[in-house]
Amino acid sequence: MSADESRKAMEKDPDLLWEEPSAGTPSEIVPTADEVSKVSIQEELRRVDKLYGEALGYAHEFINDIKNGKPFDFNDATPMVGEFIDSVFRNESAAAAISKLKAFDEYSYTHCINVSILAVILGKKLGYSRERLEMLGIAGLFHDVGKVVIPDHILNKPGKLSDQEMDIMRTHPLRGYQILRDQPGIPPEVLRGCLEHHEKFDGSGYPRGLKGDEISDFSRLLTVVDVYDALTSKRVYKDPMPPGKVLAMMYKWRVTDFHPNIVEEFIKSLGVYPVGSFVRLSSGEHGVVVDHNPLDPLRPCVRVAYDHEMHRIPVTEISLVDETRELTITDVVNPDKYKIDVYELIQ
Ligand SMILES: [Fe+2]
Repeated sequence: MSADESRKAMEKDPDLLWEEPSAGTPSEIVPTADEVSKVSIQEELRRVDKLYGEALGYAHEFINDIKNGKPFDFNDATPMVGEFIDSVFRNESAAAAISKLKAFDEYSYTHCINVSILAVILGKKLGYSRERLEMLGIAGLFHDVGKVVIPDHILNKPGKLSDQEMDIMRTHPLRGYQILRDQPGIPPEVLRGCLEHHEKFDGSGYPRGLKGDEISDFSRLLTVVDVYDALTSKRVYKDPMPPGKVLAMMYKWRVTDFHPNIVEEFIKSLGVYPVGSFVRLSSGEHGVVVDHNPLDPLRPCVRVAYDHEMHRIPVTEISLVDETRELTITDVVNPDKYKIDVYELIQ
């Protein structure tokens, strides 16, 4: 790989990215309404919030077991993944939102749970069976276990990694595969998900530079949700990026990095402005997206609670599709900058 190719690959590497490329707009994606949430997001948020807490406890356990060289039973994760799948089938926006709305700072633990949840949402959109969704959710949970052997000073370095550090970082898919392979009964799809989740459609990924159909089905999904979660999460070396902006960037990269249609399907399932996005409207007011509109992804339902100067105003819920003032979303705003708790606002 030339220095230029290496730089380009690094810029788009979710583990290494700290500069923000300019975003395009995936506005030509117009999905059809094929799913109706069975319960409200508020009701499902309460359930999935509790479940997320339990999942964090499980993630601590299995990561510590791996660090200490203890065997672990991957089947222990099946009931938990099953509950997330149930949640996604009741209201998929709640599970997607919970991973972005709470101010977690334990990236190593939250990332594996978020990738599991988001993979299930994407797998559901792609028509996976329940059995396959369970396996995919487990693959998401364990995809990054190889990072337990990466030294903390590299994993959490607040600045740019040296070439040598980057080489070490890039060993984590293979190290993870080796760890999982030594556990009894791990299915091949889960092993491949771990080994191949940084491979890219055009062959520019790692560790093996696989391309196209050489990359497994699970890995194709995992790479999409892995990039999304990494870029929308806070890391020691970067602030979280707004979900809508990340989806727009991924839409730009869809031809080189991802298999055909997967990013498009992911955007359809989350919406261009995913639930939980804090947005500015053309009126100058601000609010949080509380529901997306599958027929018009640019015009979701927004709970408006702040004026143009970010002063609190009485809450009103506006569906931008039905709005007679023809309001549009003009920007996605980082609520942390204004110390706004979006999780409190959405409940
Ligand atoms: Fe990774």
